[in-house]
Formats: sequence, structure tokens, C-alpha cells
Amino acid sequence: MPDDRPAAEAHVAAPLHAPLLVDVQNVTVRFRRKRTFATLLSNTPTSFRAVAEADLAIARQEVVALVGESGSGKTTLGRTILRLYEPNEGVVVFEGQDITHLRERQLRAVWRRMALVFQDPLSSLNPRHTIHTALATPLRIAGRAASDVEDRVKAALQRVGLPLDARGRYPHELSGGQLQRVALARALMLSPALVIADEAVSKLDVSVRSQILNLFKDLQADLNISFLFITHDLHVARYISDRVAVMFFGRIVETGPVRSLFRAPRHPYTRALLATIDDRGEDTPQLRRGVVDPDAPGCIYQAQCPRRIARCAEAHPPTTTVERDHTLACYNPG
Ligand SMILES: Nc1ncnc2c1ncn2[C@@H]1O[C@H](COP(=O)(O)OP(=O)(O)OP(=O)(O)O)[C@@H](O)[C@H]1O
Ligand SMILES: [Mg+2]
Repeated sequence: MPDDRPAAEAHVAAPLHAPLLVDVQNVTVRFRRKRTFATLLSNTPTSFRAVAEADLAIARQEVVALVGESGSGKTTLGRTILRLYEPNEGVVVFEGQDITHLRERQLRAVWRRMALVFQDPLSSLNPRHTIHTALATPLRIAGRAASDVEDRVKAALQRVGLPLDARGRYPHELSGGQLQRVALARALMLSPALVIADEAVSKLDVSVRSQILNLFKDLQADLNISFLFITHDLHVARYISDRVAVMFFGRIVETGPVRSLFRAPRHPYTRALLATIDDRGEDTPQLRRGVVDPDAPGCIYQAQCPRRIARCAEAHPPTTTVERDHTLACYNPG
């Protein structure tokens, strides 16, 4: 990871009392469990909470990293903010509008203000469309004039550092890093207020990853957008974000400004997660031992927790604000 630039120095974090872009309140998302012979026999409930009672705010121009191990619900929460999923409980507010239960027709205007960048850009690009078509299509759908479309496609390519002749190429003719630049250019075509990047640099080689991360950072500062950066890589989170939210089995257990969270994590899970970082570069935290039932009573982390006390078995701890912009769900923090 690039460590030539200290975390979060490129721009000043917007304080959370500034107008919020995203305000997720008490959101729960349930999925159906796959039915197997074993689940039928053991009378396992037919659904589980992939995201449980989550609160997450994103200020305008803020970069929030959502971190946690595989299966902790990061993508599900991201897709719920985009209203690709409708939550079972709770509220999703975007730009002051409650979008929790909007229908698809009403969501179209909202979706123009949001964009998603995936881990694998090839999967989001049509292999039979040139890069020009990929970039121009969102503008055409939005009803932009043809001359405007040309200018904007050119400007977008320049902004993400691609040559203009990339317009005539097809996705398979580009490298992974170039493709991620195209995906980013496309995400920015309609000037969104929010970009959700879901493991957007995870598959790239380390050297390319630094370039793309820097590009994300530069664009974010230039265009004043908010980012939700979903990543299991804590180095990426530390490098890119203003604030970090830590998830464990569907629960957000701690959120805080990147510097204080990395310097003084409070939740025992955050502490364990950060202890997996070493200086050798890449890290894929794998701390999970055993399977946690997200619907069982008590704290979600109690089985693994070295600081467990009697109360932890009773109910999952409520989320409290422990310092400015720092929240915690723990009865016995460190
Ligand atoms: N569409 C779906 N239907 C049923 N279960 C799902 C669906 N999507 C995700 N899940 C389950 O919900 C839980 C959370 O998954 P999610 O993809 O949000 O995790 P994640 O934190 O993004 O993981 P990763 O780091 O591996 O991408 C997992 O147990 C997953 O198997
Ligand atoms: Mg995911």
C-alpha cells in the first residue's frame, strides 16, 4: 500500500453535523436461509439478519470505509443504501429524502445521484460495447444532447487518466487498472453525490492498486463527492478514508475518525481486527472462529470476546457516542 501520503491528509473531514448525505437508521436486512436437510431437521429459522439494526451516516464530501471480514454484511449494507435492497426495518435517508420504501419509478431520480463501482469492472461492462458507448449510455438515458455527450466522454477519460483513443476499444482490450478507470469514469458521468466502491481495488496488483486509490482520492477531493469505500483491507481503509465503520456479523460495532480509530480502537473486535495488520502490505483478516447466529440473544461478539461480562449474554449493546464522531456498541470496551 502507498504510505507516502499520510491517511486523510489530502482533505479535511467534513464534520458529521454538516448536512448529511446518507443517514441509515436502525436498518435490518433479512435474507432467506438456504434450506438443507440439516436446517429442516434442526428447525433453523428460514431467514437471518445479514444486517442488524445498523446506523451509518455519511456526511457530504466524506469518505467512509466500511470494513469487516467476509460475510459481515458490507455489500448488503451498501446495496441497501443504494436501495437495490429494501430493508426489512429501519430508514434510509438520502439527501434529506426518506428513500426506504420508494418504488423503482421514484428511485430513478435518486439513482442518478448515486453510483456503484464493483470489484470486477468487466462484470459491469458490456463486452460488446466500446468504452465510448459504455460512458455515453448513462448520459443518453438521462437525455443529454449529443454534442454534450461527446464533450463529457472526453472530459471523463481525461479525468481518470485514459487516452482519448480508449473510446474505440472494447473492455477485453484493456488492463485491469484501465478497466477500473473506465468503471470510475462511468460512475462519475452523471455527477453523483455518492459513490459506493465495493472492493474496487481488491483484485488489482499492488502497484496498480496504489494508482487507482490515488485516483479515487484525487477525484473525491476535486469533485466533492462522498464515498463509501467497502473493503476488507485495513490498509486501504486507513489510506482512503476520513472515518471507518467496523462490521461484525451484520452489526456495526464501532465507527470513528480514521486516525483515532486506528490509534485507539475501543471495541474488542476492532482491536482484534487491527492486530491482524502487519507492515508487509496486504492483509486479509481472518479472525472468525465458529459460526455466529446473528439472531441469537446478546452481543454478537460475545463468543469470541476476551472482555465478555455477564450483561453481554443478555442483549446486544446499544450504540453510544463515546467521543465526537466516535460510536461504540460495547458494554466493556477497552
Ligand atoms: N442475495 C442474498 N441472498 C441470501 N443471502 C445473502 C445474499 N447476499 C448476501 N447473503 C449472505 O448475507 C451475509 C452477508 O453477505 P455480504 O455479501 O453482505 O457480506 P460482505 O461483508 O460483503 O462479504 P465479502 O467481504 O465476502 O464481500 C452472508 O452470510 C451472505 O452469505
Ligand atoms: Mg461484499
